[in-house]
Amino acid sequence: MAGIAAPDAVVTDPVDSDEPAPRLTVVGTGYLGATHAICMAVLGFDVLGVDVDPGKIDRLNAGEVPFFEPGLPELLAKALDSGRLRFTTSFDEAAGFGDVHFICVGTPQQSDSGAADLRYVDSAVTELASRLRGRALVVGKSTVPVGTAARLTELVHRLAPAGEEVELAWNPEFLREGYAVDDTLRPDRLVFGVRSPWAENRLRAAFAPVIAQGTPVVVTDLTTAELVKVAANSFLATKISYINAMAEVCEATGGDVTRLAEALAYDDRIGGRFLKPGLGFGGGCLPKDIRAFAHRAEELGVGQAVTFLREVDAINKRRRARTVDLVRELVGGDPNGVRVVALGAAFKPNSDDVRDAPALDVASTLDRLGAHVTVVDPAATANARRSHPELTYATDALTAAAGADVVVLLTEWNEFRHLDPGAMGAVVAHRRIVDGRHALDPAQWRAAGWEYRALGRP
Ligand code: UDX
Repeated sequence: MAGIAAPDAVVTDPVDSDEPAPRLTVVGTGYLGATHAICMAVLGFDVLGVDVDPGKIDRLNAGEVPFFEPGLPELLAKALDSGRLRFTTSFDEAAGFGDVHFICVGTPQQSDSGAADLRYVDSAVTELASRLRGRALVVGKSTVPVGTAARLTELVHRLAPAGEEVELAWNPEFLREGYAVDDTLRPDRLVFGVRSPWAENRLRAAFAPVIAQGTPVVVTDLTTAELVKVAANSFLATKISYINAMAEVCEATGGDVTRLAEALAYDDRIGGRFLKPGLGFGGGCLPKDIRAFAHRAEELGVGQAVTFLREVDAINKRRRARTVDLVRELVGGDPNGVRVVALGAAFKPNSDDVRDAPALDVASTLDRLGAHVTVVDPAATANARRSHPELTYATDALTAAAGADVVVLLTEWNEFRHLDPGAMGAVVAHRRIVDGRHALDPAQWRAAGWEYRALGRP
């Protein structure tokens, strides 16, 4: 059918060829910023990474990525060798260097509420803007409460010596840990929240190689760009909690949630991604983003519109409690004195991140109930030890399993998926396993004499 106009917001013109390649700064060299800086240099831009932590800057300049991310160390080496990437702690240098400045600092949850803590964003923008003496674009990438960009626009205009010559734009990121390189070099889409055609063109120039691959660009106002990120993460969290709510119903009725999810996934309108039931979501994004969104919506008087996010959070937390219950049931009610092997600490496989990790939550609850818990994780042990020094750590599942009363799989690392039930069975005291991630083949484990339990399965 002819005559249906594309929505105004979708603009897919190629980049203005007269636009020279901008020089980029990336403020904040944590997970998001370091990945962005490295990938942009690999794409051919001159990039300066900025951070207030001299230790982090030294490590990056020395070619060391301060966190676990497959593929990134190789790209850092390549970018440093090219001479197009450097890191500094100097905001003076950054202000003099860049045409487009990306703000990539963290927005953690406040300790006393669900709200986002904006102190790092405010401080990065203040430090940078107060030094900007010419036309420049400041681009927020951090996940922020809606309305932040409007406030920062005023701040930038007030602080910058160049005044309104400095513009603010918003460009949310959607990168997943473990796939950060691919998500940055080949994103599903780019979202440009801008207030002028000049800002849009600057962003198009800053992402020219990505746009040239055919990546869709959605151009919006600042508010919509801020909302896209929280709306996307809320949707993903809701999808996970939806299938986990169905797991609760399966538990009460004797259904099998893994078959239920499989059957739902064949409907293209539903799809199978983010429909994996189990211990639920954790990490540095989904949990804090849905809480911050609910908090902000209440402040704005539209709390009712996202009340369901409170339930999404509650369902997610119940999965952790229910996993502990399965362990209790297997050991006859009281975990006190029981030897537990917890397979996994990271919030998901291929990550060393333990922020709001369901796995560690379960392990530490069992520890509080008096169990002797040994945690095994291929990458996250150092971080886990820092946040949970009370737990015991081991490097190898088979060694840790010696004499165990119950094994609990909490993060679905490949090496745990491929554990041999026969070899494990030979060393444990009791063949009991809770599969918190539906990662194992129940028939295989039961055939090897194990009592196998999983959330949402008979
Ligand atoms: C997420 C978003 O995917 C990303 O777009 C955003 O930029 C940051 O937040 P990330 O935190 O890296 O990325 O993790 P993700 O792969 O989304 O997984 C989040 C959590 O959900 C993990 O704990 C994972 O185990 C869990 N999960 C995921 C499920 O329990 N079931 C699923 O089906 C999918």
